[in-house]
Amino acid sequence: MAQDKNNPIGVFDSGVGGLTVVKQLVKYLPCEDIVYFGDTARVPYGTKSTKTIERFSVENALFLLRFKVKCIVVACNTSSSIALKLLQDNFKAPIIGVIEPGAREAISSTKAGRIGIIGTSATILSKAYESELKRIAKSEFPQKYLSLKTVSKSCPLFVSLAEEGWLNDPVTKQVAKRYLSVFKQKKVDSLILGCTHYPLLKDVIGSVLGRGICLVDSARQCAIETKNVLYREELLNTKKQKGVLRFFVSDEPNKFASSGRKFLGSAIKCIRRHEDV
Ligand code: DGL
Repeated sequence: MAQDKNNPIGVFDSGVGGLTVVKQLVKYLPCEDIVYFGDTARVPYGTKSTKTIERFSVENALFLLRFKVKCIVVACNTSSSIALKLLQDNFKAPIIGVIEPGAREAISSTKAGRIGIIGTSATILSKAYESELKRIAKSEFPQKYLSLKTVSKSCPLFVSLAEEGWLNDPVTKQVAKRYLSVFKQKKVDSLILGCTHYPLLKDVIGSVLGRGICLVDSARQCAIETKNVLYREELLNTKKQKGVLRFFVSDEPNKFASSGRKFLGSAIKCIRRHEDV
């Protein structure tokens, strides 16, 4: 069945963090309706095995397809790292992840060819960003391919600190100094914020690393990529009014509403538990 451009965009994440991607989607695609699913009962994904992350990701996509979504945005970096290909091979709708857009932006912004990657343990272990960086550099930036060097580090505590709202706290700065010193030593000039939560910590990360390091927000790049995909597929919604946002979670909605506000940048209305659908 052909996709309808009036259908919503589906977005999923392991929890609340994917709202950083929704925020960017609303900015770049203000007329699109969005159905968001946050798997709050099973978060975090970043510490789970490949098999489990694949299974959860397929279940999340199946849930979103109930709403006849015209494409699925995998906002979760961990799911994107591990399950994107599986989803793309098994579903007809366009499936957009965060890895490729983030990697492309990092390569185009680096001058020294030294790129850092931070993310959850599962994302870093998967080496998905490294593979994508090499693939894109080879085909699109051959002059940068030979000198490309990557340094990666998992920063699991950043997730809790962002959810706690300790965005400019001395404790967060201390943790950031410890995690990020390697990027200074290796003189990276472009750092991929490879986790949904990290855009909230941009100020602290920037203050620790200093000027001269470009912080690549994969949420923003993913929204731009979604717009490009919808344009290519002739699926951009042409209606003039603001899109409607609906949110579903697998656990208690109230907590999602309160912690989600800072990720989305506005109040979250219209949340339901997925089993009520
Ligand atoms: N949403 C996850 C990601 O972007 C972070 C939280 C988790 O570990 O599930 O990788």
